[in-house]
Amino acid sequence: MIIEASDLSFSYPSSEPVLKGISFCVREGEIFAIVGGNGSGKSTLARHLNALLPMQSGTLKVAGMDASDPENTYPIRRACGMVFQNPNNEFVSSVAQEDIAFGLQNFNFPESEIPKIVSQSLASVGLSGFEKRDPHSLSGGQKQRLAIAAVLALSPKIIVLDEATAMLDPEGRKQVIDLALSLKSRGITVVMITHFVEEAALADKVMVLSLGRLLALGSPKEVLVQKEILKEARLLPVLPTLSYWSLLDEGLIPPSSPPLTKEGLWEAMCR
Ligand SMILES: Nc1ncnc2c1ncn2[C@@H]1O[C@H](COP(=O)(O)OP(=O)(O)OP(=O)(O)O)[C@@H](O)[C@H]1O
Ligand SMILES: [Mg+2]
Repeated sequence: MIIEASDLSFSYPSSEPVLKGISFCVREGEIFAIVGGNGSGKSTLARHLNALLPMQSGTLKVAGMDASDPENTYPIRRACGMVFQNPNNEFVSSVAQEDIAFGLQNFNFPESEIPKIVSQSLASVGLSGFEKRDPHSLSGGQKQRLAIAAVLALSPKIIVLDEATAMLDPEGRKQVIDLALSLKSRGITVVMITHFVEEAALADKVMVLSLGRLLALGSPKEVLVQKEILKEARLLPVLPTLSYWSLLDEGLIPPSSPPLTKEGLWEAMCR
């Protein structure tokens, strides 16, 4: 297991607990989605995975390292990269290649290796030729791919995408999701935080949070078609699931397990 969390709880100063006894494991190389409504604790949890918040209670191991040990802070940050929601807040330079190089310098990569790593990282997100571009001149999807390139440059084992598609149009969102799926084939573990059930449906495993509690954990097919869970987590079902429920309400199809895909809906209708 590349991430092992047990009974993780956390409160911000003078606040109610924001994480309440969360336990889960993530397998190396899987896509692990975290879904839940606003304020359910997703970003707080993400900040634990990247050692951006100090541990308060419970245990957490990231890439084999104990997150409560301050000595592991930097190794964990290198092993687990983060990409955030707003691409405009992520850049430190007005030149794409310098932006990636900055992260490498921070982690003391030898200067002589940096140019090669920068061009490899840009190529791996489909941005070869963008070396000299100002990150702010890129499209939303390209900005997020550049942010991912900056993380990939550090050869992380895990990438956490904290609603990295939330501000993108459908095309930009597709670019980022396709890239996330391609990381899996390179053995990189992807933790994908999202409000979109369509996106979580692409994961190997889904965890649902509600007000800091773990509401459900399982495969997308098990979790993302459960009416009560979706309602409590304030998530919108995908179209095939919604259509199934409408047809069932109208008495037009017999009850079966609710589908998550078009094919599943078709099967339910043919029954
Ligand atoms: N720095 C902070 N100080 C105090 N409270 C905070 C802080 N950051 C978050 N919170 C509170 O913690 C709770 C969980 O916030 P968090 O950002 O983890 O939720 P989230 O699931 O990521 O929400 P969203 O979907 O809006 O991004 C919220 O009630 C929020 O107000
Ligand atoms: Mg958040």
